[in-house]
Amino acid sequence: LLRKDIPAGLRLPPGPKPLPIIGNVLELGANPHLSLSRMSQRYGDVMQIQIGMRPVVVLSSYETLRQALIKQGDDFAGRPDLYSFRFINDGKSLAFSTDHAGVWRTRRKLALNALRSFSVLEGTSADYSCALEEHICKEADYLVRRLSVVMENCGSFDPFRHIVVSVANVICGMCFGRRYSHDHEELVRLVNLSDEFGRVVGSGNPADFIPLLRFLPSQAMRSFLDINRRFNVFVKRIVAEHYNSFDKNNIRDITDSLIDHCQEKKLDENSNIDISDEKIVGIVNDLFGAGFDTISTALSWSLMYLVAYPGIQEKIQKELDENVGREREVRLSDKPILPYLEAFILEMFRHSSFLPFTIPHCTTKDTVLNGFYIAKDTCVFINQWQINHDPITWKDPSSFSPERFLDAEGMTVNKMEAEKVMVFGMGKRRCIGESIGRSEVFLFLAILLQKLTFHSLPDHELDMTPEYGLTMKHKRCHLRASLRVRAE
Ligand code: HEM
Repeated sequence: LLRKDIPAGLRLPPGPKPLPIIGNVLELGANPHLSLSRMSQRYGDVMQIQIGMRPVVVLSSYETLRQALIKQGDDFAGRPDLYSFRFINDGKSLAFSTDHAGVWRTRRKLALNALRSFSVLEGTSADYSCALEEHICKEADYLVRRLSVVMENCGSFDPFRHIVVSVANVICGMCFGRRYSHDHEELVRLVNLSDEFGRVVGSGNPADFIPLLRFLPSQAMRSFLDINRRFNVFVKRIVAEHYNSFDKNNIRDITDSLIDHCQEKKLDENSNIDISDEKIVGIVNDLFGAGFDTISTALSWSLMYLVAYPGIQEKIQKELDENVGREREVRLSDKPILPYLEAFILEMFRHSSFLPFTIPHCTTKDTVLNGFYIAKDTCVFINQWQINHDPITWKDPSSFSPERFLDAEGMTVNKMEAEKVMVFGMGKRRCIGESIGRSEVFLFLAILLQKLTFHSLPDHELDMTPEYGLTMKHKRCHLRASLRVRAE
């Protein structure tokens, strides 16, 4: 951008001086959420860096995000054309593709409706408030039994390995109307994605910005392509089976409802946005993909915090014992009587900030934010980690303290504080699975902690260092669980 292109009276956001060709890549380092947080202390919460030759604007305060993503929401609702995004869902992803506003909005609405009708609306049996609750309760029970068996046979377990299959089964139930055994080889391999997926699509991957790097051999990129290919093959096979057995009068799951929509659309001559059937049914690929990795990561981090802070685990179990007991199953409707558990979950989201940045955004037109000029098609990073660790908002942000969300009596969660935790994004691109995600993390944890107590392995130091990526994971490790004895 030449100085003469910037409208009079405006200036570009400030930022560090870029080097030729590589820009500020060296300053980003291995943990861009930390380096960009440090940098913004010098340059402010709207700053501009350069990755390769491409300018990237980084936003990093709650008020600035409200201004950009809500008040000027349409201006910041695009996705950038990044190299790695082209391989996700064959370039037709709802979350990652550069679909223009009309197409993206229509697909997002379809996805939201599909999720709503197969999770929150009336369920299939009188025992559960909704189908989602039924899926979660059943899978959580399986998980407790599975962990007990693994403990008996092996003496310890890898939390992510088992949690991810249970969580994937919940979204498989909703999307595909089926569940898989914990020993189903293809599913287990698919959902235990090597962490390359998150690493390659995390904000600031130099290969997304510097074309030359794409030609260098990269193990991470090879694994990433392989994951995407296996994922597409898996979903396409299930979709083909659904087309073969489709019955308009018996819509079994989200895939059926999307196929039905394609047929309805053809009958509706007024529909003015033309979206291919592939792009409509392909929405299920996004829902399945987003629906297990995020929630499994949240649950896996939760277990790590529980074993790192046994006193907190004890407090959650005491609250469960006093308000629910050990006999009846916990339900979603128990949330208001389990404030300490809710505070723990909020603190896990805040402290881990395991989605340190949202998926990158992009400006849809020339715009002005806080007096700074940002041109159309500028890539925008949103630093959620920094908002969750801002010492002005959070007292002693690096300490893990669920109490920060509770009133003095510990009886209610302060909703205003809860809303300041940024993990699902904000505004037009805000996560569409938020209510499913929150419900699932709550209910899985409540059921697990009612029945099991988790411990770290003796003589093994717990390594809670996050590995940077779109979703930051802790290193794979082993934990123990003991069955809680029945109350007298
Ligand atoms: C987008 C977080 C669960 C579906 C996002 C974004 C974040 C996020 C940060 C990006 C927002 C942005 O770009 O500004 C989470 C977390 C979850 C979770 C923390 C669980 C704890 C889910 C679930 C589903 C889902 C269960 C679906 C079943 C999506 C989709 C998008 C998205 C489709 C893309 C929306 C768009 O681009 O318009 N999520 N998510 N997420 N999420 Fe989630």
